[in-house]
Amino acid sequence: MTSLLIQLLALMVPCYVANAFPVVMAKLVKHRHPLDFGRKFIDGRRVLGDGKSIEGFIAGILLGSLAGWFMSLWGIGSLPGATVLSVGTMLGDALGSFVKRRLGLERGAPVPLLDQLAFLLTAMLLYWFFIGTINLVIAVILVIITPPIHIISNFFAYKLGLKSEPW
Ligand code: CTP
Ligand code: MG
Repeated sequence: MTSLLIQLLALMVPCYVANAFPVVMAKLVKHRHPLDFGRKFIDGRRVLGDGKSIEGFIAGILLGSLAGWFMSLWGIGSLPGATVLSVGTMLGDALGSFVKRRLGLERGAPVPLLDQLAFLLTAMLLYWFFIGTINLVIAVILVIITPPIHIISNFFAYKLGLKSEPW
Protein backbone atom coordinates (compact mmCIF):
# COMPACT_ATOMS: atom_id res chain seq x y z
CA MET A 1 0.00 0.00 0.00
CA THR A 2 2.73 2.46 1.03
CA SER A 3 4.76 1.51 -2.01
CA LEU A 4 1.72 2.10 -4.25
CA LEU A 5 1.26 5.56 -2.74
CA ILE A 6 4.95 6.31 -3.26
CA GLN A 7 4.74 5.20 -6.88
CA LEU A 8 1.62 7.31 -7.36
CA LEU A 9 3.28 10.42 -5.91
CA ALA A 10 6.50 9.84 -7.88
CA LEU A 11 4.48 9.97 -11.12
CA MET A 12 1.84 12.50 -10.20
CA VAL A 13 3.79 15.33 -8.58
CA PRO A 14 6.30 16.07 -11.41
CA CYS A 15 3.49 15.94 -14.00
CA TYR A 16 1.19 18.24 -12.05
CA VAL A 17 3.93 20.71 -11.16
CA ALA A 18 5.19 20.80 -14.77
CA ASN A 19 1.64 21.29 -16.03
CA ALA A 20 0.78 24.04 -13.56
CA PHE A 21 3.94 26.10 -13.50
CA PRO A 22 3.69 27.66 -17.00
CA VAL A 23 0.53 29.40 -15.82
CA VAL A 24 2.51 31.04 -12.98
CA MET A 25 5.36 31.73 -15.40
CA ALA A 26 2.96 33.51 -17.76
CA LYS A 27 2.12 35.90 -14.92
CA LEU A 28 5.78 36.55 -14.12
CA VAL A 29 7.18 36.91 -17.65
CA LYS A 30 5.11 39.29 -19.72
CA HIS A 31 7.14 39.08 -22.91
CA ARG A 32 7.02 35.42 -23.89
CA HIS A 33 8.21 33.71 -27.05
CA PRO A 34 5.83 31.33 -28.79
CA LEU A 35 7.05 27.73 -28.90
CA ASP A 36 5.97 27.53 -32.57
CA PHE A 37 7.91 30.79 -33.33
CA GLY A 38 4.61 32.24 -34.54
CA ARG A 39 4.59 29.85 -37.49
CA LYS A 40 1.56 28.56 -39.30
CA PHE A 41 0.87 24.95 -40.28
CA ILE A 42 -0.13 23.87 -43.81
CA ASP A 43 -3.78 24.47 -42.91
CA GLY A 44 -3.00 28.16 -42.47
CA ARG A 45 -3.57 28.07 -38.72
CA ARG A 46 -0.92 28.45 -36.03
CA VAL A 47 1.09 25.29 -35.33
CA LEU A 48 0.52 25.59 -31.56
CA GLY A 49 -0.67 29.13 -30.88
CA ASP A 50 0.32 31.77 -28.34
CA GLY A 51 -0.77 29.65 -25.37
CA LYS A 52 2.44 27.62 -25.64
CA SER A 53 5.59 29.61 -24.91
CA ILE A 54 9.26 28.63 -24.77
CA GLU A 55 9.42 30.18 -21.28
CA GLY A 56 6.47 28.10 -20.07
CA PHE A 57 7.88 24.95 -21.66
CA ILE A 58 11.26 25.36 -19.97
CA ALA A 59 9.78 26.47 -16.65
CA GLY A 60 7.55 23.39 -16.58
CA ILE A 61 10.49 21.06 -17.16
CA LEU A 62 12.67 22.80 -14.56
CA LEU A 63 10.05 23.01 -11.84
CA GLY A 64 8.73 19.49 -12.43
CA SER A 65 12.29 18.19 -12.20
CA LEU A 66 12.96 20.26 -9.09
CA ALA A 67 9.84 18.87 -7.42
CA GLY A 68 10.98 15.36 -8.35
CA TRP A 69 14.49 15.95 -7.04
CA PHE A 70 13.02 17.23 -3.77
CA MET A 71 10.84 14.14 -3.40
CA SER A 72 13.76 11.86 -4.28
CA LEU A 73 15.48 13.08 -1.10
CA TRP A 74 12.67 11.26 0.76
CA GLY A 75 12.99 8.18 -1.38
CA ILE A 76 10.06 9.08 -3.64
CA GLY A 77 10.96 8.69 -7.32
CA SER A 78 14.16 9.94 -8.91
CA LEU A 79 15.45 13.04 -10.68
CA PRO A 80 15.78 11.33 -14.11
CA GLY A 81 12.26 9.94 -13.72
CA ALA A 82 10.88 13.36 -12.82
CA THR A 83 12.68 15.03 -15.73
CA VAL A 84 11.32 12.50 -18.21
CA LEU A 85 7.82 13.02 -16.77
CA SER A 86 8.19 16.80 -16.96
CA VAL A 87 9.42 16.73 -20.56
CA GLY A 88 6.57 14.35 -21.40
CA THR A 89 4.08 16.65 -19.70
CA MET A 90 5.19 19.67 -21.69
CA LEU A 91 5.33 17.72 -24.96
CA GLY A 92 1.88 16.26 -24.34
CA ASP A 93 0.51 19.69 -23.49
CA ALA A 94 1.93 21.07 -26.76
CA LEU A 95 0.59 18.05 -28.65
CA GLY A 96 -2.86 18.80 -27.23
CA SER A 97 -2.62 22.36 -28.56
CA PHE A 98 -1.44 21.06 -31.94
CA VAL A 99 -4.56 18.88 -32.14
CA LYS A 100 -6.79 21.77 -31.02
CA ARG A 101 -5.40 24.10 -33.70
CA ARG A 102 -5.91 21.40 -36.36
CA LEU A 103 -9.55 21.19 -35.25
CA GLY A 104 -9.76 24.95 -35.89
CA LEU A 105 -10.10 25.84 -32.20
CA GLU A 106 -8.69 29.13 -30.92
CA ARG A 107 -6.21 29.35 -28.09
CA GLY A 108 -7.93 28.73 -24.77
CA ALA A 109 -10.87 26.78 -26.22
CA PRO A 110 -11.70 23.85 -23.95
CA VAL A 111 -11.55 20.26 -25.20
CA PRO A 112 -12.70 17.89 -22.47
CA LEU A 113 -10.29 15.03 -21.73
CA LEU A 114 -7.70 16.25 -24.24
CA ASP A 115 -6.95 19.25 -21.99
CA GLN A 116 -6.85 17.08 -18.87
CA LEU A 117 -5.19 13.92 -20.12
CA ALA A 118 -2.89 14.59 -23.11
CA PHE A 119 -0.08 15.74 -20.80
CA LEU A 120 -0.46 12.83 -18.38
CA LEU A 121 -0.67 10.10 -21.02
CA THR A 122 2.33 11.48 -22.93
CA ALA A 123 4.32 11.76 -19.69
CA MET A 124 3.53 8.17 -18.71
CA LEU A 125 4.33 6.90 -22.19
CA LEU A 126 7.74 8.58 -22.14
CA TYR A 127 8.39 7.33 -18.61
CA TRP A 128 7.52 3.79 -19.63
CA PHE A 129 9.82 4.11 -22.65
CA PHE A 130 12.84 5.67 -20.94
CA ILE A 131 12.65 4.75 -17.26
CA GLY A 132 10.58 1.66 -16.65
CA THR A 133 7.19 0.03 -16.40
CA ILE A 134 4.32 1.67 -14.58
CA ASN A 135 1.98 -0.29 -12.34
CA LEU A 136 -1.30 -0.57 -14.28
CA VAL A 137 -3.42 0.14 -11.20
CA ILE A 138 -1.46 3.36 -10.59
CA ALA A 139 -1.83 4.41 -14.22
CA VAL A 140 -5.59 3.82 -14.14
CA ILE A 141 -5.96 5.68 -10.83
CA LEU A 142 -4.05 8.65 -12.29
CA VAL A 143 -6.18 8.70 -15.44
CA ILE A 144 -9.33 8.72 -13.29
CA ILE A 145 -8.30 11.32 -10.70
CA THR A 146 -6.47 13.76 -13.01
CA PRO A 147 -9.46 15.26 -14.93
CA PRO A 148 -11.38 16.33 -11.78
CA ILE A 149 -8.20 17.60 -10.09
CA HIS A 150 -7.28 19.52 -13.26
CA ILE A 151 -10.73 21.07 -13.56
CA ILE A 152 -10.86 22.09 -9.89
CA SER A 153 -7.33 23.53 -9.82
CA ASN A 154 -7.88 25.46 -13.06
CA PHE A 155 -11.06 26.92 -11.61
CA PHE A 156 -9.10 28.16 -8.60
CA ALA A 157 -6.29 29.46 -10.83
CA TYR A 158 -8.96 31.43 -12.72
CA LYS A 159 -10.47 32.78 -9.49
CA LEU A 160 -6.99 33.82 -8.33
CA GLY A 161 -6.51 35.71 -11.58
CA LEU A 162 -3.75 33.39 -12.82
CA LYS A 163 -5.76 32.17 -15.83
CA SER A 164 -8.11 33.98 -18.15
CA GLU A 165 -10.41 30.96 -18.63
CA PRO A 166 -11.78 28.73 -15.86
CA TRP A 167 -10.61 25.52 -17.65
N1 CTP B 1 1.66 28.39 -20.94
C1 CTP B 1 2.87 28.81 -21.49
N2 CTP B 1 3.68 27.92 -22.10
C2 CTP B 1 3.37 26.61 -22.17
C3 CTP B 1 2.15 26.14 -21.64
C4 CTP B 1 1.32 27.07 -21.02
O1 CTP B 1 3.19 29.99 -21.42
N3 CTP B 1 4.22 25.77 -22.79
C5 CTP B 1 0.79 29.40 -20.27
C6 CTP B 1 0.06 30.28 -21.29
O2 CTP B 1 -0.04 31.58 -20.75
C7 CTP B 1 -1.30 29.61 -21.35
C8 CTP B 1 -1.51 29.15 -19.91
O3 CTP B 1 -0.21 28.76 -19.48
O4 CTP B 1 -2.32 30.48 -21.79
C9 CTP B 1 -2.51 28.04 -19.75
O5 CTP B 1 -2.11 26.88 -20.45
P1 CTP B 1 -3.12 26.06 -21.35
O6 CTP B 1 -4.49 26.06 -20.77
O7 CTP B 1 -2.46 24.77 -21.62
O8 CTP B 1 -3.10 26.91 -22.71
P2 CTP B 1 -4.25 27.66 -23.49
O9 CTP B 1 -4.01 29.13 -23.37
O10 CTP B 1 -5.58 27.13 -23.09
O11 CTP B 1 -3.97 27.28 -25.01
P3 CTP B 1 -4.42 25.99 -25.84
O12 CTP B 1 -5.78 26.26 -26.38
O13 CTP B 1 -3.38 25.88 -26.89
O14 CTP B 1 -4.40 24.83 -24.89
MG1 MG C 1 -6.42 25.98 -21.68
